[in-house]
Amino acid sequence: MLTEYPDHRDFIPMHYVVRLARTPWERAGHHALRRAVFCEEQHVFEHDDRDAIDDHALPIIAAYCTAGMPERVVGAVRIHQPEPGIWRGSRLAVHPEHRKLSRIGAELIRMAVCTAHGLGARQFFAQVQEQNVLFFRRLHWRSIGETTLHGLPHHEMEANLVRYPAHGQSQTSFLRPQLQPRAV
Ligand SMILES: CC(C)(COP(=O)(O)OP(=O)(O)OC[C@H]1O[C@@H](n2cnc3c(N)ncnc32)[C@H](O)[C@@H]1OP(=O)(O)O)[C@@H](O)C(=O)NCCC(=O)NCCS
Repeated sequence: MLTEYPDHRDFIPMHYVVRLARTPWERAGHHALRRAVFCEEQHVFEHDDRDAIDDHALPIIAAYCTAGMPERVVGAVRIHQPEPGIWRGSRLAVHPEHRKLSRIGAELIRMAVCTAHGLGARQFFAQVQEQNVLFFRRLHWRSIGETTLHGLPHHEMEANLVRYPAHGQSQTSFLRPQLQPRAV
């Protein structure tokens, strides 16, 4: 009798990298994920979410790895400096199948803020969709006001930089937190 092997759809990645997107593959993955989330899923934009900020923003990706190599981009965010010492993050997106699974969103935020801090940020802000305010609060952000953006309620939020030490790393990696064993 043949041994039953798990279907490939049961595959849950263990190992991820978060890095500044520099190669064409990384940049294409960054924009494809943003388009899928902000145009096709959330309908915040019609066909393309890119804007003038992308001309000077630093794009960041999270990718899961197989055999130690990045396999697929499953997270994206960008950071930019609108005025000296003031940085902003935007377009945070995690692939729907990878949400609340491996702390990808939290690791993207950590990379975004620590990178900006390393580049001289004195303050770091983001406009956060209302349903994600608690998520950011738990990651040491505070709400400093409510606003409407693209017709949706948002909070202007600021990161506590003490919790995001400056670093100059272009890449970090992490493992998915251990799952609880399934009851049999
Ligand atoms: C918001 C988003 C980036 C979160 O990414 P994620 O990878 O699912 O989040 P994480 O796994 O890092 O979450 C870390 C913790 O916060 C919790 N969390 C995640 N989303 C949350 C939310 N919206 N509200 C409260 N808690 C949340 C997770 O359950 C996890 O909890 P734990 O530490 O107890 O395990 C993701 O849901 C997403 O891409 N949403 C669609 C696009 C979007 O809304 N972008 C943000 C615009 S402001």
